[in-house]
Amino acid sequence: MAGNAIGLGNFWRFPYQLASNGGGAFMIPYFIALVFLGIPVMWIEWTTGRYGGKYGHGTIGPMFYLMARESLKPKTALIFGIIGGMLAFSVAALLSSYYYQIIGWSAAYTYYSLTGAYFGKDTVQFFLDYVADTKSVLLFWGLTMLFLGIAVGQGVSKGIERWVKVMMPLLYVFAILLVIRALTLGSPVKPEWSAIGGLEYIWKPDFQTLSENFFKISLAAAGQIFFTLSLGMGIIHNYASYLGPEDDVALSGLATVSLNEFAEVILGGSLAIPIAFAYMGPEAATKAGVGLAYMALPNVFMHMPGGQIFGAMWFLLLWFAGFTSAIATYNYLVAMLEEDIHLDRKIGTWAVFGFLFLLGLPVALDSTLAYLSELDMWVGSYFLVVLGLFDVIVAVWLFKPDNFWEELHKGAYMSIPGWFKPIMVYIAPLFMIVLLGGNTWNYIQMGAFSVSEAYVTEVLGYEYTPEVISLITRARIVILIIIILGALEAY
Ligand code: PHE
Ligand code: NA
Repeated sequence: MAGNAIGLGNFWRFPYQLASNGGGAFMIPYFIALVFLGIPVMWIEWTTGRYGGKYGHGTIGPMFYLMARESLKPKTALIFGIIGGMLAFSVAALLSSYYYQIIGWSAAYTYYSLTGAYFGKDTVQFFLDYVADTKSVLLFWGLTMLFLGIAVGQGVSKGIERWVKVMMPLLYVFAILLVIRALTLGSPVKPEWSAIGGLEYIWKPDFQTLSENFFKISLAAAGQIFFTLSLGMGIIHNYASYLGPEDDVALSGLATVSLNEFAEVILGGSLAIPIAFAYMGPEAATKAGVGLAYMALPNVFMHMPGGQIFGAMWFLLLWFAGFTSAIATYNYLVAMLEEDIHLDRKIGTWAVFGFLFLLGLPVALDSTLAYLSELDMWVGSYFLVVLGLFDVIVAVWLFKPDNFWEELHKGAYMSIPGWFKPIMVYIAPLFMIVLLGGNTWNYIQMGAFSVSEAYVTEVLGYEYTPEVISLITRARIVILIIIILGALEAY
């Protein structure tokens, strides 16, 4: 579970979301969302998954159906199964279409570190040149997908588990070394730029910025909590379905959260942003957008002894961390084909490969990254939270709070304090309803395109050209098609 949770979300997505949403303004709702959404929903998903597993199910649809039946007629309970199945399919498909690209970037940067390709160059320009270099992007993304396909097709999860046990601790060790290096950088470019300035940007609470953009920043923070903890995706449900009915979920869920949050807030937070503040300056750091981590870190490697090897090791570890997360969504789609239409695993794997390749192609071909950013905004900051809301509605409300509390504590290695129960029953769902409602309201008020325009120009720092508009429109059409497909599949 930790190998699955810890991924590019920690080292790529967290810093860029944090930098794009006002640093210290983002951290306030981030911690609130961690306690009031992250931990409760983690427990809910472990519990739901273990419960479904008892009846031989590994996907959300039947799990939701079974739990909703506690208080609804079978026909009505079916609706919740379909909604859950639809959302899980859409998230798995759309998330994969861009997440695998970022893993591909890590593969490329492993190679470019080894060859020293970016040494002595402007790292921002190097990154922009890389994403515009279609052939290389396709190569590294394609190779990554091929590895994923082979791993999933052979069902090598056992082998992966062995690797995770070596690579994850190694990732922590490397990250700690890098953090020490990053924070002792001083001001290598300009005297007023420093890594410590980056830390200040993150850790100084900024209520002013937060209040100006309350709903947007809060939803982005909640979305990041979901993304990084692999919540709202059906992934935790799926993994937990392999547990025995008396295996602990309470302490295990909390341990997953703790391991991931250390890697995110302490390690991920002390790398890309402080390094970008030292080498690129605050202005460029907060305007960098989705490329931030890949623009920032090479600066450290090119200025350290043995930087080529160290850099290659780091990006390889990142690649692996992304890989072990990606396997989950890939496997989920294959499992669906196996369970629902009894497709052979090998055939299912390559069918999913073709499907994900088609979905990922427009992302790979778009050098402005507007298409990718649009997908990441919708999936990462919206759909995950919607699925999380249904998690609570089904597993706590419809399954009934007392049943849920009892189920959560079966075989538990810890006892969850009683005051957490109202958080799970009332506060968490209310929190999500307010966030989603507020954002939907903003969206309607501002008009569909001005939200994207503000996002593209202010957050990503691009010009809002006709090309960008058409990319964003295409991304939305694809999202719509995938949702409809998901509903059909779930039905
Ligand atoms: N939690 C993962 C991360 O932080 C995100 C993820 C999970 C992506 C599962 C894909 C599949 O990177
Ligand atoms: Na994570």
